[in-house]
Amino acid sequence: MNPEIKRTLDGSDTLFVPELNEHYHSTFGAVQESMHVFIKTGLMAVDPGVDPVHVFEVGFGTGLNALLTDLAAKTHRRKISYSSIELHPLESTILKKLNYVSFLPEADTGAEFDRIHDAPWEVPFQANPYFRITKLKRDLRSYEPSDQLYDIVYFDAFAPDVQPELWTVPVFEKLFRMLRQKGLLVTYSCKGQVKRDLREAGFFIEKIPGPPGKREILRAHKK
Ligand SMILES: C[S@@+](CC[C@H](N)C(=O)[O-])C[C@H]1O[C@@H](n2cnc3c(N)ncnc32)[C@H](O)[C@@H]1O
Repeated sequence: MNPEIKRTLDGSDTLFVPELNEHYHSTFGAVQESMHVFIKTGLMAVDPGVDPVHVFEVGFGTGLNALLTDLAAKTHRRKISYSSIELHPLESTILKKLNYVSFLPEADTGAEFDRIHDAPWEVPFQANPYFRITKLKRDLRSYEPSDQLYDIVYFDAFAPDVQPELWTVPVFEKLFRMLRQKGLLVTYSCKGQVKRDLREAGFFIEKIPGPPGKREILRAHKK
């Protein structure tokens, strides 16, 4: 794959994959979408008493969700243990060209971005006192989870029509098993089939107003 860097409408970058005719994020705003779907609707909805928060991300990609979660952990002084699965890690040459560090106002963004990307694969890495990351170079479909139970899943695969093999009942059932009771799964897609498959896997569905360019997104609950 040879992804190309594209500027989205909020001024932050995303990647476009010509072979898939698909972007990594919303063209209406990459940072805006990630903040809305994964941080505000997801991370901030985890019970405040949970410490540390265990996050499992599907699709590490550019590391934008990881970076925003790291910055939120530091801002809110909340310990987070972040695991992210990625079958096709991106080359550092392209990662270094993304404008997230200059786009985001928080101090230390550059250092955190580098620490997240320089972190080794397969082993936990403590990026700062609040944020620990484990990057897994695996295929979600064959991934056999450990006994760790997660508080929240960020489901950030490519869109269901581009990558239907990840939006399936067996994959959602696996993620359901990986969550603790009252755990959450958030995703940007609100397609009817996605809702039906999540329900079949055992989730209760909550529709949430989406970021610009998207009417609704999903927060799914393991009751
Ligand atoms: C929408 S992008 C993720 C964007 C990412 N969360 C970010 O913040 O940049 C989807 C990602 O899923 C990865 N992926 C595709 N198939 C996968 C699989 N079977 N297992 C794990 N990751 C996969 C892709 O390589 C891609 O990086």
